[in-house]
Amino acid sequence: MGTIILGTGAYLPERVLTNQELEKIVDTSDEWIRTRTGISTRHIGGKGDETYQLAAKAAANALQMAGLSAVDIDLIIVATISSHMLMPSCACFVQKELGAGKAFAFDINAACSGFVYALDMADKYILADPGKKILVIGTETLSSRTNWEDRNTCVIFGDGAGAVVLGHGEGEGGIIGANLFSDGNLWALLHMHTAPSCNPELLQAASPGVHIVMEGREVFKYAVKAMEEAILKLLEQEQIPLDAIKLIIPHQANIRILNKLAERLGVSAEKIFINVQKYGNTSAASIPIALDEANRASRLEPGDIVLLCSFGGGFTWGAVLIRW
Ligand code: UT7
Repeated sequence: MGTIILGTGAYLPERVLTNQELEKIVDTSDEWIRTRTGISTRHIGGKGDETYQLAAKAAANALQMAGLSAVDIDLIIVATISSHMLMPSCACFVQKELGAGKAFAFDINAACSGFVYALDMADKYILADPGKKILVIGTETLSSRTNWEDRNTCVIFGDGAGAVVLGHGEGEGGIIGANLFSDGNLWALLHMHTAPSCNPELLQAASPGVHIVMEGREVFKYAVKAMEEAILKLLEQEQIPLDAIKLIIPHQANIRILNKLAERLGVSAEKIFINVQKYGNTSAASIPIALDEANRASRLEPGDIVLLCSFGGGFTWGAVLIRW
C-alpha cells in the first residue's frame, strides 16, 4: 500500500547527433567518446522541441499508459535545469500544453538528481492525500546549455524527457523509501550560470556564459562513491538485501561510472540498466527515460524491487526504492 507508478512515458527529439558529426565540431574522435563515456549518439532538439514540449509529449505517453487524461492530474512537478524561461516555470508550460486545468505546477532544480528528488516529494504529497494523481517529469534540452566549443562537455549531453504518473495503490507495490543528499560546498565542480546580472553591484567581472561547466574527472570520483553510499544506506534503512534488487536504474552519465558502481557493489553488470550509448547524459530526464524503456521492454514484473539512483550538480545525489 502506498504511492504507485500508474504509467511511464518518454520522448526523445527526432534529430540524432552522432560521434562522427561531433568530430567535425570539436577536436575529438568516435573512439575517444565511446571508450571514455560509452556514448555513441544523443538526441538534439529542433523547432518544436522546447524543454516543456518534450515534457508534455513524455507526459502524454505516461498518461496513456495510466489510462488517465490530463484533467485527472492534481499536481505537475517538473525537474529541469534547461527550461526556456526562468519564469513561468517549465511545469506551468507543461500544464498549458497538456490542458491539465486542475493541476498546480512547479519546477524543482536538483540537476541530474531532479527526478529522484521530485519522486520523493510527490510520494509525500500522495501519502498525505491518497486521492492525488501526480505527474513527475524530468526534461532537458541540454543542447541549449552546452558550450559547443568545449570538447570536455559537448560530447556528453543530450536532450529528452521522461515522465511517470503517480497515484495511490492498495496492493503490495509502491515506493518503499528514499534517501537524498546535497553538498553545496562542491558547487564549483559542476555548475551553470544564469544570464549576467542587471544590477551592476552583482555583476560578475568575467561572466563565464550560460552553459555547463564541469571538472569531469573530479565529478566522476564523487559520483561513484556517492551513489554507492546512497544505495547501501537506503538498503540498510529499508532492511532490504542487495540481492533482492531486480534492477538498478541509475542516472546515465558515463558507462564507466556505471561499470565502476556495479564493481563496487559487487553486482553483475546485467543488474544495472544502461542506455547512455543512445541518449548521452540527459540530466534530470535520464532516469525516467530509462525507467520507461525498462518498463516497456518488460524488464519489470509486479513485485520486483527496482532501485533508482542519481548524482548531479549541487552536488546532489540520492536513491529511491520501488516495489513494482
Ligand atoms: O551528470 C552529472 C554528473 N556528471 C558526470 O557524472 C560526469 C563525470 N565525468 C565523466 O564522465 C568523465 O570525467 C568525462 C567523460 C567528462 C571525461 O573523461 P575522463 O576520462 O575523466 O577524461 P579527462 O577529463 O581526465 O581528460 C583526459 C584527456 C585530457 O587530455 P590530456 O590533458 O590528458 O592531454 C582531455 O583534454 O582527454 C581529453 N579530452 C578529450 N579528448 C578527446 C577531454 N574530452 C575529450 C574529447 N575528445 N571529447
